Amino acid sequence: MDKQRFLITGASQGIGAALVSLARKQGHEVVFTGRDQGRIDSVAAESGAHGIRADVARADDNRRTVETCVDRMGGIDVLVNNAGIGYLAEVGEIDMDAMRSLFDINVFGLVDLTNRVAPLLKAQQRGYIFNIASTSGMKGAKSGTVYAASKWAVRGITQCWQAELRPHGVHVTCVCPSEVQTDWMGRTGRNNPNKLYAVDIAEAIMAVLGMHPRALWPEFAVFANNPWKED
Ligand SMILES: NC(=O)c1ccc[n+]([C@@H]2O[C@H](COP(=O)([O-])OP(=O)(O)OC[C@H]3O[C@@H](n4cnc5c(N)ncnc54)[C@H](OP(=O)(O)O)[C@@H]3O)[C@@H](O)[C@H]2O)c1
Repeated sequence: MDKQRFLITGASQGIGAALVSLARKQGHEVVFTGRDQGRIDSVAAESGAHGIRADVARADDNRRTVETCVDRMGGIDVLVNNAGIGYLAEVGEIDMDAMRSLFDINVFGLVDLTNRVAPLLKAQQRGYIFNIASTSGMKGAKSGTVYAASKWAVRGITQCWQAELRPHGVHVTCVCPSEVQTDWMGRTGRNNPNKLYAVDIAEAIMAVLGMHPRALWPEFAVFANNPWKED
């Protein structure tokens, strides 16, 4: 694969940070975002990527993010819409402000940023967009109304963008990880070698990029093969 220019959102830790690290190891240029300056600095120092403090829910931040990519890299080849948060509550107890805040990040922020990047990709008639959804967006579950709805939305949005962007040589792929051992929703301390790690999702994304550009991988899920094994 030729050297690509990546923009990865929400990469101060977890899946995003693993992808920053892997893309840099493979020689690609990377700009990434997050909100926690300390974590951004440490990912940037470790990887050599350029980190910027930017909240995907804020339009001004998204404008600045894209401008930074154009200034530093001359454009974007691979956009990874990874920033996302969780919220669990059963119907009857859903905090609607929390639901709106989650949609501001997981859905509206993803659309606002891509709205700004898509014209660049169309102009160059090539590029890749990866939308990180979830297996929670494939099957509903208890307490999942808010988070699952946001990820079902991301899957539907991905299909719309495929219809719009395929004729322009732009690939749009939806990635649906099952449970990954990250700090997502504060779930620290897990270290089970049989459950997914962030690097597994990063490797899957790089595998898609390794295919010939004539091929489109529209959506895939990633599961741990045997997560019930404890050692
Ligand atoms: N872990 C799982 O089991 C799992 C499974 C399926 C799908 N996913 C999805 O995978 C993606 C990454 O999750 P993860 O497990 O890596 O979670 P994580 O460890 O909590 O990392 C999430 C990242 O997103 C950033 N972020 C959150 N809100 C943001 C915002 N408004 N603007 C910019 N950055 C923001 C966080 O950075 P700051 O704190 O610095 O803002 C952090 O770097 C999410 O979309 C998640 O829904 C995760």
